[in-house]
Amino acid sequence: MIKKDINQNDILNSELLNIMDYDFIFHEKPINRIKTKPTLENSKSRLYILKSKIENIENCDLKKNASKIVFADGNIESPIMIVGEGPGQKEDELGKPFVGDAGNLLNKMLKAINIERNKTYITNVVNYKPPNNRKPEPNEISRYSEFLKEHISIINPKILILMGSTAMEAMLGSNKKISQERGQWKEVIIKQKNYQTIVTFHPAYLLRKPDQKKFSWEDLKIIREEIDNKNIKI
Ligand code: URA
Repeated sequence: MIKKDINQNDILNSELLNIMDYDFIFHEKPINRIKTKPTLENSKSRLYILKSKIENIENCDLKKNASKIVFADGNIESPIMIVGEGPGQKEDELGKPFVGDAGNLLNKMLKAINIERNKTYITNVVNYKPPNNRKPEPNEISRYSEFLKEHISIINPKILILMGSTAMEAMLGSNKKISQERGQWKEVIIKQKNYQTIVTFHPAYLLRKPDQKKFSWEDLKIIREEIDNKNIKI
């Protein structure tokens, strides 16, 4: 009988194979470290949950005084997301953002750079009309900015447009001047993702100060240029 020499390594190897799960070692599929693209269904259900969370907000003066929630409007798969301040009277009646005079101007501004409003996604910092059309208070802006961040992360836009000082404050913090911040690309980080963001004047402000439209036009051209350079399909 031939005596097979079993060396120490063989013993170690066979013991290793016995204690380890063979499938675990050899049959696992690679896992992509880049997360897979969110599906439309997934975005819809996350939006539904977010809307319910806002509907269930407690001790909120905005909600108490408003007639209904104004959540969002537009295409949930849009590469362009626009954030305004909060609903006005008309928005409160119809439950849709930017449907009054400021909305009409917004539509024209988008058209001027060859974008149809319904190809974008539009929301506001606060989702209930502030009483007497007042500006949302800093504590309201900070409370609702958590919802807004979740909203942005669900829509996952390629370009985020912040219209007016309230939207700027919600995403970039207070103590900034819109006249200094507007018209420049900024990176806003939400849930570890960078969003290319630009601040510009709010259409309601432009209605009150039409002489500022020339700056708004500069910003719109910057946005159009980026869409073309990055070949963003809109
Ligand atoms: N102003 C806003 O900021 N949002 C609206 O929806 C309407 C007017």
